[in-house]
Amino acid sequence: MNQIELTLNGQARSASVDAYHTLLEVLRDDLGLTGTKECCLVGECGACTVRLNGEIVDSCLVLAVEADGGEVTTVEGLRDGPSLSPLQNAFLEKGAVQCGFCIPGQLMAADDLLRRVPHPSHEEVEEGLAGNLCRCGCYYQIMDAVESVAAGEVISSPQTPTAAPSALPQPPVDQ
Ligand code: FES
Ligand code: FES
Repeated sequence: MNQIELTLNGQARSASVDAYHTLLEVLRDDLGLTGTKECCLVGECGACTVRLNGEIVDSCLVLAVEADGGEVTTVEGLRDGPSLSPLQNAFLEKGAVQCGFCIPGQLMAADDLLRRVPHPSHEEVEEGLAGNLCRCGCYYQIMDAVESVAAGEVISSPQTPTAAPSALPQPPVDQ
């Protein structure tokens, strides 16, 4: 087993991992962050997208030991304190979420796009989300949500959680 250290959503975390464990497996199974989804496991669908050291990656294709010492952000880290982020609210307001399985990856890709290109064209949004598949076919609504944030529309959602951070589900303690 190898001990790895991560800065995960701004917090120092550690885990004991086998050399063949993927970052996806460690995030979900060892560190308790199940927002990142496991789907194709071959880098085709984008459901497992996280940010690693400033760039989004398919966490099913990254070995956990490769992320040792790195900075990782998952969908759980996108929220704005106790509230959803404007991007998360936009997905709700625009009806972009059906089954929801692809949404964590879509949010991570959209967040990355808006960091790099704050006011993307329609084509740039399409390109930025091209690696994320949605089996429910919500592409129009997802792109609408991203474009609404880029356009600076103020979106407030009644579904924004009101619980204090301490009342939200917390990951297990380090192992
Ligand atoms: S589960 Fe990683 S890209 Fe599909
Ligand atoms: S909302 Fe169901 S797969 Fe995208």
